[in-house]
Amino acid sequence: MANNIVVIGTQWGDEGKGKIVDLLASRCAAVARFQGGHNAGHTLVLNGKKTVLHLIPSGILHDTGMCYIGNGVVLSLEALEKEIEELTDVVDVFSKLRISNTCALILPTHIALDNAREIQRGKKAIGTTGRGIGPAYEDKIARRAVKLSDCSDSDTLKEKVTELVTYHNFLLEHYYQQSTLSVEEVYQEVKQRYDRIKAMVTDVSVSLSTINANPENSILFEGAQGAMLDIDHGTYPYVTSSNTAAASAATGTGLGPKDIDHVLGIAKAYTTRVGGGPFPTELFDEVGEKIAQIGNEVGASTGRARRCGWFDVPVMRRAIMNSSVDSLCITKLDVLDTLPEIKICVAYDLDGQRLDIAPNNPDDFERCKPIYETYEGWLSTTASVREYDNLPEKAIDYLLAIEELLNVKIDMISTSPDRNDTIILKDLINE
Ligand code: GDP
Ligand code: IMO
Ligand code: MG
Repeated sequence: MANNIVVIGTQWGDEGKGKIVDLLASRCAAVARFQGGHNAGHTLVLNGKKTVLHLIPSGILHDTGMCYIGNGVVLSLEALEKEIEELTDVVDVFSKLRISNTCALILPTHIALDNAREIQRGKKAIGTTGRGIGPAYEDKIARRAVKLSDCSDSDTLKEKVTELVTYHNFLLEHYYQQSTLSVEEVYQEVKQRYDRIKAMVTDVSVSLSTINANPENSILFEGAQGAMLDIDHGTYPYVTSSNTAAASAATGTGLGPKDIDHVLGIAKAYTTRVGGGPFPTELFDEVGEKIAQIGNEVGASTGRARRCGWFDVPVMRRAIMNSSVDSLCITKLDVLDTLPEIKICVAYDLDGQRLDIAPNNPDDFERCKPIYETYEGWLSTTASVREYDNLPEKAIDYLLAIEELLNVKIDMISTSPDRNDTIILKDLINE
């Protein structure tokens, strides 16, 4: 029986979702993005060749199957065109990608507003990716977004763009004291960009439903960001503006929750975060620097340095609860190869009280102090190991400790950026 799998990040993003989606995609009929936008940066490496994707699903390098951008994604036509162009020598995106006609658009004024808000927040800046994600979702929820379906009729598009950009310009000029953008230029840009990609626009829900009707087919749902960046369940307000939890795979594509067979949570063997906000296990010493350097912890979208810390069980427990995580893929185990000792945060101390699960109150989160257990490092190489039995004993002990603390099985282990350097303990597609 084929399975539909949701792949989500269980930390603060950049867990290696792109690599794992790329690996699983070869046997799937469809790969669909369901939330976020081009704030994502998903890195695929095959035989040393690196591809970074932001909007286009991480199944695009395979001949098999189609790729879909679901209704839950906020779509920048500019970013889409740029990404298609970057891939021209590699793949004909037009024949492999379909985009939901109900996607809300990110306009240039959303980006201006994103940046204006960050400036206004000053020291409390979220550290957004500056891609206009938050303002675009705001407009969608406020029912004034320009949707892809509005673009097929010039009059409708002109009316919608005029209303929205006029409103944005008012905010930019009078509230944020920033420059405005020309309504006509935004309209012309959207219209021209739409005309170039319109052949890919369709009713994605119906396409996926047709694929799903064949029991031989598997659909892969590719999450962006991570559990702690979820708008409802993350470290608010230091979050992104969408639900990153697995349930979004249904609402963000138009299939139903019962069409999901397995939720695979991706977690680094340690933790990273990029942008502002609480991070209880963050390391400010040379160990943190070493992890950042060996793990090459630089943002795939913005090039910012990622903050590094130890593996955080309370965070993972909330992620597992929020998304019904069935099993885990632990990535970047190799990054810990040279550390003599490795810590796991097993609980938090909040004002003298022990918490086993991360609190959902942001003020409490700020005050949480990690309670650690220390493990002996394996001090030998796991890099590029593809068989479980070839892992050092102490690395296996570390993985078993994670399984036991979380009460969730590890089905996959990633040991390098390369697609094929992955230990697969269970075939999730044909269970
Ligand atoms: P995503 O946003 O979850 O897809 O993750 P990113 O691509 O933003 O960040 C993950 C980074 O770690 C990328 O540079 C990957 O190439 C790299 N990576 C993924 N898995 C492994 C691994 O097992 N070991 C190492 N050393 N790097 C990995
Ligand atoms: P992937 O899919 C890591 C973070 C930003 C910021 C916050 C809000 O590659 O894992 P936004 O631009 O979304 O309004 O920024 O969310 N952020 C990510 N961090 N990985 C990502 O995506 C992220 N997408 C957004 O750094 O803290
Ligand atoms: Mg990323």
